[in-house]
Amino acid sequence: ADLSHSNTMALACTADSVLTLKNEAQLDEFMANYGQDTKLNQPLFVLSGGSNVLLPAKLNAIVLRPQMLGIYVTAQTDSHVDIEVMAGENWHDLVVHTVVQGWYGLENLALIPGLTGAAPIQNIGAYGVQLEDCLQYVRAYHLPSQTWHNLTAVDCEFGYRDSMFKRQPNTWLISRVGFRLHTDITKVLASYGDVQTVAQRYAAQQSRTKPTPADVMHAIIEIRQQKLPDPRQLPNCGSFFQNPIIPQEQFTELQSSYPAVVGYPMPDAMVKVAAGWLIEQAGLKGGGIAPIFTHQQQALVLTNHAPYLTTQKEVAAAQQYITNTVYEKFAILLSREPVWVNADGSFGYDEHVV
Ligand code: EPU
Repeated sequence: ADLSHSNTMALACTADSVLTLKNEAQLDEFMANYGQDTKLNQPLFVLSGGSNVLLPAKLNAIVLRPQMLGIYVTAQTDSHVDIEVMAGENWHDLVVHTVVQGWYGLENLALIPGLTGAAPIQNIGAYGVQLEDCLQYVRAYHLPSQTWHNLTAVDCEFGYRDSMFKRQPNTWLISRVGFRLHTDITKVLASYGDVQTVAQRYAAQQSRTKPTPADVMHAIIEIRQQKLPDPRQLPNCGSFFQNPIIPQEQFTELQSSYPAVVGYPMPDAMVKVAAGWLIEQAGLKGGGIAPIFTHQQQALVLTNHAPYLTTQKEVAAAQQYITNTVYEKFAILLSREPVWVNADGSFGYDEHVV
């Protein structure tokens, strides 16, 4: 099966076989045979929206694609709505749907590519909100023991772009995500960067003095459309590097040489530095190694200028070049953010390539 069109970086990839799951029972059926039948004796690999993976040219695995659909209200009070969302629902469509219904909390996460089931894996986050802020539970299948589990947000061990799912590759298949959303139209988080100004403009257009969650969503859609390339036009997998978290002392030192450096305070006397700023200051905005270049409007995003022809090798070359250049200038080591997938479906950890 050809997966070149199933990953937003548009890397060339073929896999031995692909199983699309439309419901949970289909997975039980498949797993009952898996392990019994030697023909099926191959590693399993779970592929959702393909927007945060770097796939190998040949994937020697059985690819499971969760595509269950459905959005259900499970409880409702004066102030809250609990919903359960099936893994195959498109994330951005879900965000728009909830805001239109008057259910708030996900609006800052608009226009993030991918499907709902993958959102907990890296605890998607943007503009001051992370998935864990609204998430109540995850229903997931544990592949090694062939059992279903209902996991609380605490069980998921969320961190910045991280969860226990991400640390246990090919172990869990998420089928449903439960959220608690609120119905208070006055409660918004619009303090991050340009969001306040743009959201205020949307509010003013409707003669409102204060932005609503819908105004914030529209602002974020506008901001993201300006900065982030649409994978259908220019293949990419979003932020390619994590924002490095460094000790306050190191940040203060950096500030003395580069007063404009962008950082956000974190717990435990640490500072999260904007990797996009570091890459731009290292002279690499639009730079890279063909056909992989950083995006002109947001240097943190690597784009593939030769869709369906590029492989991991070219991506690694560009990554190494950028990592080395930034390290030489700032002595900060950038880590890759998307998941690197090996030929057997395992995850790669070769991210420190200085
Ligand atoms: N900056 C530059 N040059 C650049 C890019 C950014 O100077 O080329 C500066 C900006 O001026 C700004 C700061 O860096 O002061 C932060 O930039 P931005 O607000 O665009 O956010 P980011 O830190 O680069 C993170 C997430 C994004 C998320 C945005 C908004 C990570 C790795 N990335 O990017 O997530 O949308 O914040 O919250 O945390 C993704 O994960 O795929 C992704 C797009």
